[in-house]
Amino acid sequence: MPGLTAVRSPPMPKKLIVTGGAGFIGSNFILKQLQDKSFSVVNLDKLTYAGNLHNLESVSEHPRYQFVRGDIADRELVRRTLIEHRPAAIVHFAAESHVDRSIRGPEDFIQTNVNGTFALLEETRAYWSELPQADRQAFRFLHVSTDEVFGSLGPDDPPFSETTQYAPNSPYAASKAASDHIVRAYQHTYGLPTLTTNCSNNYGPFQFPEKLIPLMILNARNGKPLPVYGDGKNVRDWLFVEDHCDAISVVLSRGRTGETYNIGGWNEKQNIEIVNTICDLVDESAAPLQKPRRDLITYVKDRPGHDRRYAMNATKIEHELGWKPKETFETGIQKTVRWYLEHEDWIKDVTSGTYRQWIETHYSV
Ligand code: NAD
Ligand code: DAU
Repeated sequence: MPGLTAVRSPPMPKKLIVTGGAGFIGSNFILKQLQDKSFSVVNLDKLTYAGNLHNLESVSEHPRYQFVRGDIADRELVRRTLIEHRPAAIVHFAAESHVDRSIRGPEDFIQTNVNGTFALLEETRAYWSELPQADRQAFRFLHVSTDEVFGSLGPDDPPFSETTQYAPNSPYAASKAASDHIVRAYQHTYGLPTLTTNCSNNYGPFQFPEKLIPLMILNARNGKPLPVYGDGKNVRDWLFVEDHCDAISVVLSRGRTGETYNIGGWNEKQNIEIVNTICDLVDESAAPLQKPRRDLITYVKDRPGHDRRYAMNATKIEHELGWKPKETFETGIQKTVRWYLEHEDWIKDVTSGTYRQWIETHYSV
């Protein structure tokens, strides 16, 4: 009608089920993804020791966010969740993720990372196969994996690429490799539209302080020993967690199904360099000790089977999808140290109970 403009209602947000969204990377991903109005998120998480809903306090009442507590290996629960929420995609973070724990007790890793991923895939396949044609085509299952599936590099080896042969060395890496293969088979055999990302070591806010960087920041702040495994010369490629989350969003929206994408920071560092940097940053910002924090460094027994070097060739995602890390290690580590020093409540919360028990068992030998 002349003079009247049609008012269109905005399109329905695209619903994602994010598994493991209360963990370190999953919670960073949810916080970022909710900033985009075209997505809503259902977080399916079992809340193991590593899952912390405080990470998501700022969005707990958000109209486009819901939490479901549950195990990805519980097929009945996964089935109900899929039927109730009818997601357009699944972003699968849920896993047991700590290498040292996998050495002490591999069973949980096989249960969640292998059997859990299998259960999730089976229920996803059943749900997906009943979708209308257009929704079936648009559906995505994005599996979040690790560079550890490729094994260990020598000092002069080229970085891992998407075609590097799998050679996982720890029970954690083997369980992730198994899950990568099952995901691959579901795409190849059933045509499930999957995407797999393999990323290097992440650091940043909300990481549980059993991993190198948060453990060193907290111990340095508190004047406690800084346990460096072996000679401290093992090399990892470090990526700020928000860059990883951006990469996952890019792969989710533009990645080619059936493909795998390596994600990394082009940022190889020896562990001892990381620990020295943290000592200096904490010295600059926290209450002074009687001595420089570098004096807290204590070389301890090496991790059994410790991979010497990881490095990622991230050219494929850069060239094909236009992703690049925004943060340098220097800016990322400064932000991270500041975040831990400013979030006393979060630290108190995670450094009680189970965490203490783990530290006692692990570091008492
Ligand atoms: P995390 O240990 O911090 O979090 C794991 C989350 O999964 C927790 O919230 C936990 O409660 C949940 N979970 C565990 N078992 C579950 C189950 N059976 N059912 C439902 N939820 C369950 O892990 P993270 O560091 O955030 O890693 C997330 C994913 O990214 C993992 O798949 C990991 O292999 C992968 N990854 C991690 C890194 C890294 O540096 N942290 C690097 C590359 C890839
Ligand atoms: O490479 C990606 C992987 O990075 C992820 O798949 C894993 O989920 C994640 O935990 C991480 O594995 P790492 O074993 O590399 O991370 P972690 O922080 O446990 O150890 C980093 C390095 O620091 C490693 O060489 C072992 C060493 N280290 C670790 C701890 C906890 C120490 O020297 N002292 C420590 O106390």
